Amino acid sequence: MEKRGSFGSKIGVILASAGSAVGLGNIWRFPTEVGRNGGAAFIFVYLLFVFLLAMPVMICEFVVGRRSRANTVGAYRVLAPGKPWVVAGYMGVIAGVLILSFYSVVAGWTLHYTVDSFRYALASGQDFGAVFSQFVSHPWKPLAFQLAFLLMTHYVVARGVESGIERFSKAMMPLLLFIILLLTCCSLSMPGAREGLTYLLRPDFTKVTSDVVLSAMGQAFFSLSVGVGCLATYASYFSRETRLVNSAFSVCVIDSLVAILAGFIIFPAVFSVGGVEVDAGPGLVYITLPNVFNTAFSGMPVLGYAFSCLFYVLLLLAALTSTISMHEIATAFIRENFGLSRRLSAVVVTLLCIVLGFACSLSFGPWRDVKLLGLGFFDLFDFLTAKYIMPLGGLMITCFVGWFLDRQLVEDELTNGGALRVRSLRLLLFLIRWVAPVGVAIVFFNQLISD
Ligand code: PFF
Repeated sequence: MEKRGSFGSKIGVILASAGSAVGLGNIWRFPTEVGRNGGAAFIFVYLLFVFLLAMPVMICEFVVGRRSRANTVGAYRVLAPGKPWVVAGYMGVIAGVLILSFYSVVAGWTLHYTVDSFRYALASGQDFGAVFSQFVSHPWKPLAFQLAFLLMTHYVVARGVESGIERFSKAMMPLLLFIILLLTCCSLSMPGAREGLTYLLRPDFTKVTSDVVLSAMGQAFFSLSVGVGCLATYASYFSRETRLVNSAFSVCVIDSLVAILAGFIIFPAVFSVGGVEVDAGPGLVYITLPNVFNTAFSGMPVLGYAFSCLFYVLLLLAALTSTISMHEIATAFIRENFGLSRRLSAVVVTLLCIVLGFACSLSFGPWRDVKLLGLGFFDLFDFLTAKYIMPLGGLMITCFVGWFLDRQLVEDELTNGGALRVRSLRLLLFLIRWVAPVGVAIVFFNQLISD
């Protein structure tokens, strides 16, 4: 079999993992959730979950991946041979494929909007709500863009870990961060931006209901790519010198910053224009924003044009660095489990995602009446992964690392065999053994009962 890949540099590790985390989840889903769940109070609960629940899960994934040097299923086989923990590995592979299938639908829309913004097709005087619903329900157009996007993902994954994933992330992440900062400055300098900022920064805790808590946890897991073995797969390419705790912390900080900056881009702009709803839901970036771009820059259409092109390029790059990581979960599994080449394994995964992904896309159009468990394919895959598999996967991996794995082994991984002094080691182990599993279990079972 081909040699296992590895990341060549420390910065490559952080940028690839942050690339996985930063995605549509930050720039599309986060502002949508903030808008729906009442602003700053949601952000507060979200950040609490990021650092108390999702970060410990990420560290556990790093431990499992780097220790085993195997794909998610192989990892449990190496670390717990003959034990049922391997179920968590299989769940991760399935979830990776399901997430990539529905995520690539939205990524396809983004590709279409990117092309349209460059073609000047998002100019004012249109009903963007109608434009959006006509496009997503079209029998083949969204499929074509989704396919193009999946092929882009395929291309990077098939090139391998160092010359594909790492190289791409190292080039794209700095660009992405630069675009975000640029757009934040533009947005904050709009007249009336202050109202949007207040909405984002002044918490109203009366708005925190159990639903808000649940959404915040789902969002934290989704945004950090944890619970499906994605980061465990990446960690299997880390070197012995990689500092697991530091890297996890950096990824969480970068991811949260990007999410909040995305809020700083969208809400001040939306409030500045006025008359558009902040709780517009998933249409926020496809319906509300084109309106905002046009209205805000009506005196300077060139600026509006630049702003909109940059925004959709940003969304596209963010989506791509994330889909690569989803794809890699199943590609690594097929490659190592069946002894196929990386290229062939990637082809299998891409074909599978094309079939399932088309089903998701069609659920907005010709297949809108095809329902499984009362849901269309898109909603079903989203629901199954974000609400069930991710929290359950998180619960399992924290129990596995916190309670099943030998404590010395875990400490060895966290301190690189004693070479590092991790000041918060005891606190971290407490988070892994108690806070994260108990917290996730409470929110998860609460939801099961209320569903
Ligand atoms: N974290 C990504 C985002 O915020 O868009 C989504 C994601 C990537 C989820 C990879 C799961 C995953 F395995």
